[in-house]
Formats: sequence, C-alpha cells, structure tokens
Amino acid sequence: MARILAINGSYRNNGITDQTVGAMVQAVETAGAEAELILLREYPVGFCLNCRVCTQKPGDAPGECVLHDGMQELIDKIERADAYILASPTNFGTVTAIFKRFIERLVVYAYWPWEMNSPRLRKENMPKKKAVLLSSCAAPGIVGRWFGETHKQLKMTAKTTGARPVGTLFTGLIAKDPHPRLPDHVFTKINSLAEKLL
Ligand SMILES: Cc1cc2nc3c(=O)[nH]c(=O)nc-3n(C[C@H](O)[C@H](O)[C@H](O)COP(=O)(O)O)c2cc1C
Repeated sequence: MARILAINGSYRNNGITDQTVGAMVQAVETAGAEAELILLREYPVGFCLNCRVCTQKPGDAPGECVLHDGMQELIDKIERADAYILASPTNFGTVTAIFKRFIERLVVYAYWPWEMNSPRLRKENMPKKKAVLLSSCAAPGIVGRWFGETHKQLKMTAKTTGARPVGTLFTGLIAKDPHPRLPDHVFTKINSLAEKLL
C-alpha cells in the first residue's frame, strides 16, 4: 500500500489549504493509499541554526541535526513515505514562514562540507518519489503560480527530499470571504492529482 505524507504550512484551521489538503488526503485514501497529515502549525519544528553540522557527513541518508525537536521524527516520516503532498498558502508572494522554517531544516538533505563552495543534494541522483504541490492565494491561481515564489519553494522542497512534482494546484480568488469554501471545480482537479500521485 502506498504511503502518502501530506505537509501543510497553513496557519488557519479549515482555511482553503486545509480543505484542499483534506480533499487530497481523502482522494488518495479512497484510491487505496495510506495517508498521514502533518500540520506544521502544530508540529514542534524550531529554526535552523545554520551550524551545518548535519551537512558534513557524506552519504545518501539525511544528516543528523543538533536540535532535538520534532524535526527528526518528521524526517523519518519523509523517508518512509512513497510520495508527498506539499502545501502552503501564498503570503507576501511566497510560502508561509512556518513552511519556510521547515524548508530550512531540510538542510540535512544536503552534503556540504566546509571546504565545498555550495551544497550537493543527497537525493539528487536517487530514484525519484512523486509530489503534488498545492497553494492558495487571493490573486487568480495562474498569477499566484507564475508570478510568485511559492511554486519555486514547493518545487525545491520536493527536489530536496528526493521527489519530482507530478502536478500543481493553485486555488485563487478565494480571499474575499472570512470562511472560504473550496470551489466545486477544484475537486475534479484534486481527483486527477491523486491519480497522478499514485
Ligand atoms: C499576511 C498575508 C499575506 C498574503 N499575501 C498574499 C499574496 O502575496 N498574494 C496573494 O495572492 N494572496 C495573498 N494572501 C491571501 C492568502 O494567500 C489566501 O487568503 C490563502 O487562501 C490563505 O490560506 P488559508 O485559507 O489556508 O489560510 C495573503 C494573506 C495574508 C493574511
């Protein structure tokens, strides 16, 4: 049975991102996969210290962080999963601060000894897992996707964790209501993304 890990960087209970991720999780479970949902807002992940201790040892396995918070458990879940759902609202043109904080802690996936100018991603040449990338924004979805940094950040998250994006959904024009509901047409797209993921 395929194991899907969903990582959601929204701040808000039952906002558009929660609803989109919830619908994606339901779609993959209906298709027979096992899914686990991580709400970063409830997960104990601290800021990266930029110490680079985790990047010094060679090898394909993620390095070990000096911080002992929830990130190691999250890395174990990432390693065990067959595919990922990566989601964040678009805030000020990019992913939320909690999603960015999570991305920075993914530096364990880089091999970067002090003598090297730039990092090498440990999973770059490994067989790729799959990922779908989800966001929501006040702008039309197409504008949010192509004119901000969110898509790039979500793509980089997939690449760093050894995945290739197989689909993207930006749900736009949904910020004019304090309690927005996921538009019906989005569910069709979600079902097709679930198929691609599996
Ligand atoms: C602080 C803040 C910054 C935002 N920045 C943008 C933005 O740059 N572009 C955009 O299209 N929407 C922006 N929005 C709108 C959110 O992306 C949108 O409301 C999103 O659906 C929120 O996700 P949620 O429903 O999961 O909370 C912003 C909202 C807030 C509160």
